[in-house]
Amino acid sequence: MKVVSTQRSQVLAGRLATALNIPVIDTRWQKFPDGEIYVRAEQPAEKVVICGSILTSDDLVEILLLKDIYSESDITLVIPYMGYARQDKQFNPGEPLSARAIARILGADVSRVYTVNIHEKSVLNHFHTEAADVTLSSPAAEYIKTLSLDEPLILSPDEGALHLAEDVAGYGKWESDYLQKTRLSGDKVRIEPKSVQVSGRDVVILDDIISTGGTQATAASMLYEQGARSIHTVGIHGVLASGAYTRLTSAGIASISCSDTIERACSTYSAAPVLAEYL
Ligand code: R5P
Repeated sequence: MKVVSTQRSQVLAGRLATALNIPVIDTRWQKFPDGEIYVRAEQPAEKVVICGSILTSDDLVEILLLKDIYSESDITLVIPYMGYARQDKQFNPGEPLSARAIARILGADVSRVYTVNIHEKSVLNHFHTEAADVTLSSPAAEYIKTLSLDEPLILSPDEGALHLAEDVAGYGKWESDYLQKTRLSGDKVRIEPKSVQVSGRDVVILDDIISTGGTQATAASMLYEQGARSIHTVGIHGVLASGAYTRLTSAGIASISCSDTIERACSTYSAAPVLAEYL
């Protein structure tokens, strides 16, 4: 078995190969003058792990091209961060079910797919091949331990994401809760934990995706007003769209962290050991 990576996921692919003690295939990526992508991976492989996160449409095309290069091989596709997975429903008439559209093309002609903390598990059904989601609750918890916080409270930004906060909190025997939004007037909302007081406490706001950072920054400002001692933010996937760092730091967030499903300056823990176990 060998690992081949898209341009986006080179660090994680390298860590995965090290964890599995298998080689990484030398790959070249280039762009034609018209913007088309060129990929070349010369080494043959009977079994190949394609590792590629999808943050942009080019990332998606690179995976399709790698799948084509290895179309004679047994392919395991690892999608550490699957963009488009948030559009998992038709919210308005005339919209695509984007997650389904992407999953269908990715799942074709591969033996199995692994995603990591996919936004919505039902998306796995659209791959039309064996598909499983891997959770990074354990390495996220190990990272939180390194912050040496005093009995941190692990908060999820909404009730829907509480299972992730509970899971992570379980590893450290910490308390968990979710944030509830109450509309006070036309333009005023209050965000506070459903049942736990934050006054004097170290708080970790945990979410599957940190995108614009807006959710976390708004919550942090309000939790500081309620007396929180320190607020840290931990995401599984650091999308960190333009301006997110500024938004988060100016809200007084003490530390920003995410995994290497998308390689960022704040990637403090890796998906590789957990993915390696599955592979
Ligand atoms: C949404 O459903 C996700 O779980 C995250 O809460 C969301 O993507 C965070 O977005 P942002 O960082 O832009 O507030």
